[in-house]
Amino acid sequence: MRVVVTRRIADSALQKIMSRYEVVLYDSDYPPTREWLESNIRGADGVLCMLTDRFDSELLEKAERLKVLSSMSVGLDHVDLDAATRRGIYVTYTPDVLTDATADLTWALLLAAARRVCEADRFVRGGLWKVAWAPNLLLGSDVYGKTLGIIGMGRIGYAVAKRATGFGMQILYHQRHRIPEEKERAVNARYVALEELLSTSDYVTIHLPLTEQTKGLINEKRLRLMKPTSYLINTSRGAIVDEKALIKALKEGWIKGAALDVYEKEPLPEDSPLLKLDNLVLTPHIGSATTETRNKMAEIAAENLIAVLTGALPRYLANTDVVRVRPLVS
Ligand code: DGY
Repeated sequence: MRVVVTRRIADSALQKIMSRYEVVLYDSDYPPTREWLESNIRGADGVLCMLTDRFDSELLEKAERLKVLSSMSVGLDHVDLDAATRRGIYVTYTPDVLTDATADLTWALLLAAARRVCEADRFVRGGLWKVAWAPNLLLGSDVYGKTLGIIGMGRIGYAVAKRATGFGMQILYHQRHRIPEEKERAVNARYVALEELLSTSDYVTIHLPLTEQTKGLINEKRLRLMKPTSYLINTSRGAIVDEKALIKALKEGWIKGAALDVYEKEPLPEDSPLLKLDNLVLTPHIGSATTETRNKMAEIAAENLIAVLTGALPRYLANTDVVRVRPLVS
């Protein structure tokens, strides 16, 4: 069987696949072109891909032999799941292992925005530090004891909430369903409407998947509900926030600051107005970027792929209905 791997990944994971299958590797840190994907997907039984590889129905139509599309990501907005299911393609992903790394980065961004860490770094390196200590230099906002609003209390949202208990925070959360009461109690969290969360939180952090329903959720109307002293943090998917509205919010002071790891367009265009804003912390989609986590993600992506190709149920299957379309054969 032939397996396509669309990026250079951890050696141990690659070896697992290479010891069993013929491998076509896109041996680079950059993503392959659409043309490369189109020509290589044709003869592939399995593909191990990244979140930057778009598998829409048009591309999946070319996948005549494809049995499994294993994404090394928790998000799956780059894959047309319905089209994959119709074609009997198992789509797998890598949740859980990146929960803590992503929650940690969320906290790094929250603290960096609140305490102006990146501005302070630029200040020192820029040779602007002329007075040893000044009562009004680079004043930020308190975090301890404040209110944290979590939009999306899934694995990552809950891990962010657990960390907030060490900061004595009240937690408000919103998503479609309430979580069990004992889980709420454990992190001092209260389920509220989105409007209440936005208008009363000091820090708002987003942990939702990108879907038709969540696209543009944080728009001008909702940003205007936030307090002028509050901060927005997004480590989920860029398109959940209306970037134009956020730029206005940051320029006109509807909110005090923001920190983003994800953007409507990635990489962020060189002429993006976001780059000009001082009250904004920017990182390049590195939520899961620790060596330990990325190695585990690669391992799990390899294991998911091998499971399907050997006729076993993979640990993390996204389109569970596919089992009826094309039952596994060992
Ligand atoms: C994912 O896996 O979807 C994350 O965005 C990667 O950091």
